[in-house]
Parts: sequence; structure tokens; C-alpha cells
Amino acid sequence: MSDKIRVAIIGGSGYVGGELLRLLLRHPNVDIAAITSRSQAGKPVTRAHPNLRGVTALKFSAPDELQTYDTLFLALPHGSSMEQMRELTKVADRVIDLGADFRLKNSEDYSTWYGYEHKCPEFLKDFVYGIPELHREEIQKTRWVAVPGCTSTSAIIPLWPLVKKYRVKLIVVDSKVGSSAGGLEPGPDSHHPERAGVVRSFKPSGHRHLAEMEQELGLAKQISFSPHAVELIRGILSTIHVFMEDAFTEKDIWQTYLQTYGEEPFVRIVKERTGIYRFPEPKLVAGTNYCDIGFEKDERTGRLVVMSAIDNLVKGAAGQAVQCLNLMYGVDESAGLDCVGLHP
Ligand SMILES: NC(=O)c1ccc[n+]([C@@H]2O[C@H](COP(=O)([O-])OP(=O)(O)OC[C@H]3O[C@@H](n4cnc5c(N)ncnc54)[C@H](OP(=O)(O)O)[C@@H]3O)[C@@H](O)[C@H]2O)c1
Repeated sequence: MSDKIRVAIIGGSGYVGGELLRLLLRHPNVDIAAITSRSQAGKPVTRAHPNLRGVTALKFSAPDELQTYDTLFLALPHGSSMEQMRELTKVADRVIDLGADFRLKNSEDYSTWYGYEHKCPEFLKDFVYGIPELHREEIQKTRWVAVPGCTSTSAIIPLWPLVKKYRVKLIVVDSKVGSSAGGLEPGPDSHHPERAGVVRSFKPSGHRHLAEMEQELGLAKQISFSPHAVELIRGILSTIHVFMEDAFTEKDIWQTYLQTYGEEPFVRIVKERTGIYRFPEPKLVAGTNYCDIGFEKDERTGRLVVMSAIDNLVKGAAGQAVQCLNLMYGVDESAGLDCVGLHP
């Protein structure tokens, strides 16, 4: 009898499902008991995830063949897990949902931001928002985690220490986002001639991830968010313009970040005086669970410019989910996540 954590991945043929598989196959405490796909049931997982050839012989099963597991990872389009959650919680002790359905605490926010009524509102209060740097103790105690949106993660982690310590007047988050954030379903905007080479503003105001930023940072109208599609497959660079009521120096900001994140395994403060890699870059964190944070004070205007870089599929999704799993089971928080980036 194995003492490993028996997990199932639901929505395993998608991009986030593939990243969960890549990370969990190397996890010393996890046994992947099932991975589902409706479209590819019975086929080897390497059909959808060819990077795993020679690493696993697993096959996809159909979602209706689920048995019982220790933990379910849900990597489904938003709106799907709320329809199934009452049933899914019966087949597993713990659920880690990577979609948006259980991230917001207030069910009315789903009408406002997603345009539909929540189908399972009684679960909302018990799901913990899965950013370990903010909610480590709650994640350790809970059975249900809602992993944040990718751009939300890239904004909330760098902003949280600042909003705890300073009075903030205005924040503007400008994110550059890679194409894999849109999932594998093609659309007119992802057709290669329409997507390649772009720097495209696709939701200058009112993006859904703003609801998560407001909720977690306790801010409402002081925060704005404008994402852009850029020529990347993986990665997010968020440039965050912070205008504060309080006076501050760069040394204060250093201290604030070191006090909050000095011991964090997956947050790195990146601020060099010279060289080309002075600030965070998505290329350097691709495939890893790091969130790199840099900053500079614009002495002329008093603006604080904060930059953060993550891989949308790792710290922005599957890696953060595995970090939460590790906390829920009390195993090494970095287990399965010890990948380093590539250079050049
Ligand atoms: N991509 C990112 O960077 C990112 C980051 C953070 C969070 N997320 C969130 O993570 C979730 C998955 O994202 P993704 O990018 O992996 O999407 P995706 O590539 O479109 O994959 C979703 C998978 O779910 C399966 N599926 C669809 N509808 C289903 C249903 N009703 N029941 C069961 N399975 C269903 C599909 O496989 P079959 O049709 O084969 O069953 C598909 O492979 C989304 O909620 C997304 O918002 C994504």
C-alpha cells in the first residue's frame, strides 16, 4: 500500500492540466491515479503533452470513470467546476480548483464580473484563495483551495506588502501576457497571423481578474488593470505604477519586501545596479515557480514602479497549485517544484 498522495487531474488535456502532469510526475510524494479528458479518453497523455514522451505511460480516462482520490486538481474552463463541485467533493478529501469559480467570496461578484449566477454559492466561504505567500496557514488547514488567476498572482504578490504598510492613492497594473494564458481552444484572435507579432490591448478596463485584486488587496476604486497580449507563449510581465500618500525611499521598499518575502521559497527580489538583467523578466522564470519582483522610485514624480515576472502556467497556475498541495499535506513546500529556469 503506497503512502503517497493519490491525485486525479480533471481537464488533463489542456495547458494547465499538462503542467500539473509535468510537475506531479516528478513529485516524490504524489501518485497520479487518474487524468481525465473527454476528447482523448483512452489515448496516451503524450498525445496531448508530447514533452512527456518517455517519462510516463499514463493514459487519459473519461471524467465519468472517476473513482475516489485523496485530491482532485480541476483544470476546467470557468463555469464548469461550479456545476460539478457537489459531486466532486464526494470523490476526494481535498479539491484544488484552478479555474475562477471559487476565487471570489461574494456570490454576487460572479454576476458582476462573469455575467452568471453562481451555481454552488454555499462553497464559496470555505475555499481558501491559493496564494501561499498570503494565506499559508489557512491553506495548511483547509480541504478546498481556489488557485488565483495568472495576472492576479502577478499583481497581488508584489502589491500585498505595499498595501499592508503604506496608504496608497492609486495603482495601475499594466500586464504583458503570453498566449498560453488563453488555453488550448483556438479562436479568431489566436490564429497565428492574427496573434504573432502583436502588442495588443485586449481589455483596457473591467478585466475579471481585477475582482480578485480588489478582494485580496482590500482596494476598490484605487486599483486599475490593463492587460496586453504580446509575442510570448509563456510568461507575464506586470509593470505596476504605485502612487502613495506616504513618503518612502527605495531603502524602505527594500526593507518592506525583505521583511515580507525574505524567507519565501518562490519570491525573489530582483534589482541590480548594472547589467542587462537588472529587473524581472518572464524569460528567466519560464518553467519555474518563481515570482520575481523588482522596483524603482521615479524621484521626479514620486511614483513607485514595481515589476513582476511569472510563468502564467507555473506560479500563475499549476506550480502554485502544487505549492498549495504541499502545504495541505505538510510535506516540503518545494516538493515537485525544484525546476530552475533557462539561460540564455
Ligand atoms: N492558461 C493559463 O495560463 C491559466 C492560468 C491560470 C488559471 N487558468 C485557468 O485554468 C483552467 C484551465 O485552463 P487551461 O488554459 O488549461 O484551459 P484549456 O487549455 O482550454 O483546457 C481545459 C480542459 O478542460 C477540459 N474540459 C473542458 N470543458 C470540460 C467540462 N465541461 N468537463 C470536463 N472537462 C472539460 C478540456 O479537455 P477535454 O475537452 O478533452 O475534456 C480541456 O482540455 C481555466 O479555468 C483557466 O482560466 C489558466
